[in-house]
Amino acid sequence: MSKLKPENIETLISRDRIQSRVRELGQQITRDYKGNELMVVGVLRGAFIFTADLIREIDLPIVVDFLQVSSYAGTETSGVVRFEVDLGHSIEGRDVLIVEDVIDTGLTMRYLLDHLKLRNPRSIKICALLSKPSRARVVVAADYAGFEIGDRFVVGYGLDFDQHYRNLPYIGAVKEPL
Ligand code: IMP
Ligand code: MG
Repeated sequence: MSKLKPENIETLISRDRIQSRVRELGQQITRDYKGNELMVVGVLRGAFIFTADLIREIDLPIVVDFLQVSSYAGTETSGVVRFEVDLGHSIEGRDVLIVEDVIDTGLTMRYLLDHLKLRNPRSIKICALLSKPSRARVVVAADYAGFEIGDRFVVGYGLDFDQHYRNLPYIGAVKEPL
């Protein structure tokens, strides 16, 4: 059982709004990479649902891989990011699109970008479903951005609170105070 009760979650972005935005992002990506093969890199675990939906809106030859990173120090990002599970394939010479659930402080994405660039991809871009500009500690702009949200903790559509609520079909925000 989660410490967070369902009644303390309010809908922030509905299933329909997510679906139409994901479709738009997929179409934009399809246009931008026309004629090329794309390598989609999903960031586990939060981006697994977004990645699954997004790739079905991309009409290009693609390959998909995943990696898992952690950044710790309690609930706040420490900025010390570690690869927990690395990619299974080389990204050298490939057009890479990192797919992330949310850019919060930006520290995870900054680290990921810096490290993956060292592996000499042909290009590397970011697609983030959510971003919280007011929380940015480093500025990492997503090339493809779903929704900007305020300083709220969100769950659902892959995002968790203590590993729970990833299966909500919409994005919910934790009501304050908890
Ligand atoms: P950043 O390094 O602060 O940008 O943190 C990014 C990571 O923190 C995301 O990939 C998520 O795993 C997690 N995270 C940040 N905000 C939220 C949230 O509101 N809900 C769930 N996870 C979050
Ligand atoms: Mg994440």
